[in-house]
Amino acid sequence: MMHQPVEQLIEGIQAQREPKGFPGRMLDAAFAPILISRIAISEPLRDDLRRLRGQTLVDIGCGMSGAGYLIACRFGVRSYVGVDVFFENLRPDARPCLPGAVEDRIPVAWERQDMLDFLTRLPERSVSVLATGIDVCVIPSFKHLQRIGEQITRVLHDDGLAITYSSDIEPPRLSRISHGIRGFPTLDDIDLYHRG
Ligand SMILES: C[S@@+](CC[C@H](N)C(=O)[O-])C[C@H]1O[C@@H](n2cnc3c(N)ncnc32)[C@H](O)[C@@H]1O
Repeated sequence: MMHQPVEQLIEGIQAQREPKGFPGRMLDAAFAPILISRIAISEPLRDDLRRLRGQTLVDIGCGMSGAGYLIACRFGVRSYVGVDVFFENLRPDARPCLPGAVEDRIPVAWERQDMLDFLTRLPERSVSVLATGIDVCVIPSFKHLQRIGEQITRVLHDDGLAITYSSDIEPPRLSRISHGIRGFPTLDDIDLYHRG
């Protein structure tokens, strides 16, 4: 497994401070695996996700499925950083989507930190971002969600993508492409934000 410190994956990022007091474990609702299924059935979505090639992909609230990492591998991402505040979710042995063989495909870092704090540490225009299942039940403050959106706009690479699915995050001042499923209005769109 090519697990590397995040400083080796993102140029200019500062060393992490150990977060204080985040005990416990959160139910992992696993939206990223649903995103994988949607990718499998939509060629236009796959076409748009090709923009991820060569990017560093930061998966905020990555959970423990490992599905974000699989998406990163599938689209030629240069390196993947999974960020989650709950330690249990980052245990390397707890990722049902990850058969051992894929773990060494691209360099990976798992960071235990609040997603807003992590995004704030990143240099401007440096990465692509994935947010799945980050809704108001997970971050119970619209102000906080808005700040996360603003940080995503700040850190988004000129050629990168911010992907949101089943999330209440809307990065401002970016162009958006929405991928829905015709005939299934109750399923959330997958939104891809870019600098245009
Ligand atoms: C609904 S789950 C989604 C997990 C994964 N993204 C997926 O789609 O399968 C929400 C995740 O966000 C994490 N989380 C909640 N609050 C967070 C915060 N402030 N910073 C970072 N991660 C957080 C939880 O621990 C959990 O793993």
